Amino acid sequence: MKYLIANWKMNSVNLDLWEQEFLDFINSNKDFPQPNEVKLIVCLNLYDYYVFSEKINTSKNPIFKNISLYAQDVSRHEEGAFTGQISSKFLQKIGIKGSIVGHSELRKNGDSESNVYEKGLKLKDEKLSNILCIGEDLETLKNHNKKSFLLNQLEAFCKNGVKPDLLAYEPIWAIGTGVEADSENISSAVSIIFDFLNENKINCPVLYGGSVSTTNIEEIISIPGLEGCLVGNSSLNGEQFAIIASKIKS
Ligand code: 13P
Repeated sequence: MKYLIANWKMNSVNLDLWEQEFLDFINSNKDFPQPNEVKLIVCLNLYDYYVFSEKINTSKNPIFKNISLYAQDVSRHEEGAFTGQISSKFLQKIGIKGSIVGHSELRKNGDSESNVYEKGLKLKDEKLSNILCIGEDLETLKNHNKKSFLLNQLEAFCKNGVKPDLLAYEPIWAIGTGVEADSENISSAVSIIFDFLNENKINCPVLYGGSVSTTNIEEIISIPGLEGCLVGNSSLNGEQFAIIASKIKS
């Protein structure tokens, strides 16, 4: 099984157009992977949730119908005076299946390791899935501190029964730059992550994120151990997302 996750971030996506672009591609590609071959997830703006979930639920296309909808963030609090935040309880109530936690764009805005852990805990309490994002910045990479940095992020999250359901290695220096991380760097991160997961008896798919596109997906997905990708910019267009999905098949 492979995983392809769209992170639409705070971009406006024309939902009718996205659906049409996606369907046009899969209708003209008869060997498009089935839902049991590639799991498709879209992490959308909650503002778009009702319209997009309605499209999915009423779709006659089994591939489109199987897209799961996730949030991009969740509050670490349960309820109360937390302006602008959304709780795991509310996500659960509207039908969202899980959320990204620890995205670097949120860590940059103040999400500490303990906040990320608490968010994981809140999702677990509601039986929602998490997509944990980890990854180093350029300075950490250049100073050869990648391993300790990644291990610290993993150790801070994996405790008291909280563990990643999907784990995305997203080096900050490759996000939104148009230049993906090189195979050597991705491979070394994957092996650091696998050693940690094995030692802690955690079984979870490891994904890569950072400037994934229709042109580099085949090279990236051929890296041993990787089971999928988390895609920002290239997921905003339904056709490009579908092309990436078609190339990711195991
Ligand atoms: P880009 O694919 O735009 O580099 O974004 C990656 C990302 O941050 C996904 O969460």
